[in-house]
Amino acid sequence: MTLIEPEKNKRSYVTAITLAVLLLVVLLTCVPYLVSIALAEGPAQVDRADASPIFGVTIPPGYKQWELIAPAEEAAPLDELRAVVGNQTAIDAYQAGKLPFPDGTILVKRAWKRKQSPEFASATIPGAATTVQVMVKDSRKYAATGGWGFGRFVGGKPVDEAQHRTCWGCHEARARSRDYVFTRPAP
Ligand code: HEC
Repeated sequence: MTLIEPEKNKRSYVTAITLAVLLLVVLLTCVPYLVSIALAEGPAQVDRADASPIFGVTIPPGYKQWELIAPAEEAAPLDELRAVVGNQTAIDAYQAGKLPFPDGTILVKRAWKRKQSPEFASATIPGAATTVQVMVKDSRKYAATGGWGFGRFVGGKPVDEAQHRTCWGCHEARARSRDYVFTRPAP
């Protein structure tokens, strides 16, 4: 009896240590996994905050590399230079010359304050960026607005709902015959 007891204690002590080590291993394996899930969900939540009211349109990644459709200029008081660019679906549609634009078309209007060139007085160059405006074609999702979803962003953040209520009215009234798009390709 006195010889067996310590042996038993030793065994349960070893079992406890083994279990503790196992638990530690499981925890250490899971923690990085849980952290990676949390990090992966982070940007998705940021995306929702960065989406336009009403339409849920976001600034498309890579738009600064998109092809130019046409530049434009806005008179005072805005005094802006603009460039309308499009994704490949938009460019293909323009080249085919077919309306309406297919689903997946994205048009972005970039805008900058007009600035006098510091090197050459008569030259006007882009100053500070002012807004980024986006139109996304999804004929089902945006059926109520001609198939277009709108987004207007200042400093990367969407402007308020009231401003987003104005987009469709003007595009519908003035550009109806061209699938609600004003910009024609620059010659
Ligand atoms: C009062 C009229 C008016 C309103 C309101 C308006 N737009 Fe436009 N939009 C234009 C005109 C005109 C153009 C042509 C380019 C230019 O002159 O800047 C244009 C061009 C665009 C383009 C490039 C594609 C195209 O149709 O040529 C996008 C994208 C765009 N607007 C988004 C928006 C968004 C988003 C809103 C709402 C926040 C909005 N617009 C509100 C008049 C308007």
